[in-house]
Formats: sequence, C-alpha cells, structure tokens
Amino acid sequence: MALNWPYENRGGYLYVDGVSALDAARRFGTPLYLYSENMIRRQYRRISEAFSKQYPKTRILYAAKANTNLSILRALREEGAEIDAVSPGEVHAALHAGYRPGQILFTGTSVGLDELLYLLDAGVRMNVDSESQLDSLLEQEVPEMVSVRVNPEVGAGHHEHVITAGYEAKFGVWDEDAIGVYAKAKRAGVKRFGVQMHIGSGNLDVGNYLLAAKRLLEVAGHVRRETGVEFDFVDLGGGLGVPYKPGERQVDLDAFFGELVSFIKGELERRDLGEPELWFEPGRFLVAEAGVLLTRVTTVKRNPKRKFVGVDAGFNTLVRPAMYGSYHHILAASAMDEPEEVVDVYGPLCESGDLFARDRRLPQVSEGALLAIMNAGAYGFSMASRYNSRPLPAEVMVGDGEARLIRGRETLGDLLGGQC
Ligand SMILES: Cc1ncc(COP(=O)(O)O)c(C=O)c1O
Repeated sequence: MALNWPYENRGGYLYVDGVSALDAARRFGTPLYLYSENMIRRQYRRISEAFSKQYPKTRILYAAKANTNLSILRALREEGAEIDAVSPGEVHAALHAGYRPGQILFTGTSVGLDELLYLLDAGVRMNVDSESQLDSLLEQEVPEMVSVRVNPEVGAGHHEHVITAGYEAKFGVWDEDAIGVYAKAKRAGVKRFGVQMHIGSGNLDVGNYLLAAKRLLEVAGHVRRETGVEFDFVDLGGGLGVPYKPGERQVDLDAFFGELVSFIKGELERRDLGEPELWFEPGRFLVAEAGVLLTRVTTVKRNPKRKFVGVDAGFNTLVRPAMYGSYHHILAASAMDEPEEVVDVYGPLCESGDLFARDRRLPQVSEGALLAIMNAGAYGFSMASRYNSRPLPAEVMVGDGEARLIRGRETLGDLLGGQC
C-alpha cells in the first residue's frame, strides 16, 4: 500500500509515532485531532529538497488554510517555510507564530476594504485577485511589490468545489486581462512584481500543471513585452495531492518537480523572462497524512439491512466526507486485529448526511471502542464548525514520543461567547 501514515499496530492497538492512540484519547478526550510533528517536518523536507534540486531559487509557502494551528505553523517556520494566507485571520496567526510580514503572501478573493486596511497595516505581500482589488490597494498606498493571481484557463482538482481556475472558477484575473492590471500597477509606481496561479487541490499528476504553467508564462511573456515588467517570482500555487485510499499512489516528487521545472526553465528562456524565483504553495501535502481524528464509538445498532457504528465526531469535526464525498480510511484504533464486518460509520449530528463511511469493512467494534479517521491533518480542524452547538475538538501534537495539547477543547460555555 502506498499510504504514508506514521502509525503502527501494536497488539491490536494503534500507535502514532510511538504514542498510544488509546492513551491520548483517555487523556485528552474525544473527538481529538492528533498530529505527528515528525511527519509534518519530513513532508516539508521532502518537497523542499525535490523542488530546490531542480532550480537555484525556490521557496515553499505553506498554504495555512489546510491547518492553522500555531504549533504546526511554528514547526514549518523552523523548517524554512513561508506562508500563503487567504484571510486576515491566517495572517494574524502566521505573525503570531513568528513569520515576518515579508514571508507572508496574501491571496484573497472578494477582499473587503477593512481586510485590505488590516493587510496593508500588517505589511504583508499582496497577490491581487482582481483589477478592482488593485484599484483599492493603490487608493490606499503604492506598495513596493505586487503580484497578480492569473487564471490560466486550466483548472484541476479532486472535486468541482476545489477546482480554482478555468472559466467556471471565481478566482483570479482572466489571463488576457492581466496585461492591463500590471500596466496599471507599473504606472502607479509599483517597482517589483510576481505572478501566481493556483489550479485546484488534490492533484496527483503533473499534466495539468504543465498546461496551466504554459499559459501562465505565455501571459507573463506578453506582460513583459507590452509593459516592460520584470518578474521577481513565479508562484505555481499548491494543490499537490496525497493518497487517501489504500492502493492510491504517492506523487513521485522528483519526477513531478523534474518535469515541471524543466518545462518552466525552457519557457522562461524562450519568453525572455530571466530567472525569477519559483514558489510553490502546498497545503494538504504537508499536513494531511500527519493527522488522525480519534473518535469514540458511542452506539452500535442495526436495522434489517444495515449495521451502524455511531461515533462522537461528526461533520462538524471533519466535513470533507459530507462536503466533497471524500474517502477517509478508518482504523479500529483499539481493535485492529478483530475480524472484519461491513458497517456504516455515522456521527452525532441531526443530519442524514453525517456519515463518514458507507459499507466500509472494519474490524468488529463495540461501544466504547476507539476509531481513527486517517488523513485528517488537512482541512480537518480548519474546516470544523460548531454546528448543532457542539464545541470544537482539541488538538494534540505528538513529538519525541510525547503527546502535548496544542489546542484545548472548547466548552459549552464557549458556545455562548459574544452573545447577550
Ligand atoms: C491560493 C492557494 N494556494 C494553495 C492552496 C493549497 O492547496 P492544497 O492544500 O491542495 O495544496 C490553496 C487551496 O485552496 C489555495 O487557494
């Protein structure tokens, strides 16, 4: 199996980087997000090495939307990451985690004036998503550097909701319109420029990146010729996928970056674009496989057709299965060696769609058993909600064989905060 999880089965019990999932669940309660710090760091080193091997000037910007826990942001900062942020809240978290404003690139869409003022005050780099965003920016001040998110006509992703380029996508400046946007910025006195794209999420193949990069650099070449703008960086976005199902393959990073960067080098030369830095914005790739969601079985019941295993996590805790129909592998963390049966795994929300799995083969479990929902490190906690008035879960980091709480569980009292 190509899956890359930091776990082992010790006598039927799940251990994550040497820490017993059952002990962690007893100590911190459930539902509980548990992350492997080693794995996050290892993923960063793998992608950073594979990318930098191919080109002299590269940067990795962690797409913080995948998981903004401060401990994760700090670990990645120590590894050398910078930040791709999409909201003032993400910028705030990154600054708090010790990133300098110049290490943060803000890529927002539908950005309000109050947000813009916060971002300018924070001094982060701006990647504009529309001409009107540039206008609002220039009305406030002329930044030294501006980047433009260009829609390169090619989008790709694991679900239509995560395809972020092409005619149907709301993101970015349409490629042909980019010349006008750069010309306006240059006329206003902006001195340095970048160009960015992001085609979507969960991509395991380089093919669509090549098509999109071709268009992006074609546009950059036109901009260069028509306006004289020179690019400090070309940001290729994120979207690198990871396997979720047994049998799915890992991306071969050397092959991926080898092919992508050699294509880009050729295009840069052909289009007289010099040697800008190349940036990449992985989110999921760095954190997805490092996280598991531990959830306790509260109910086992059946009807004439189905057997149901009820757990204490729901789509308030992990929304990906309900939102995208995503597959998440489930392990019976306290009963790994039991004989298997076919069940549905459901959560506590008052919604029929609150299901983590249908017709899933799982070891037989009884009430009180612990399940681990795998690949929950990305878009897990960061998309969690308080729906049905359920407090947000706790998060724990495993490092050096120890588990430490990195975000406390909310209480019922927290649900009332700010209300009168
Ligand atoms: C601008 C931008 N960059 C990077 C990413 C990261 O995507 P992923 O987590 O799939 O790598 C996203 C995700 O939506 C994004 O919108």
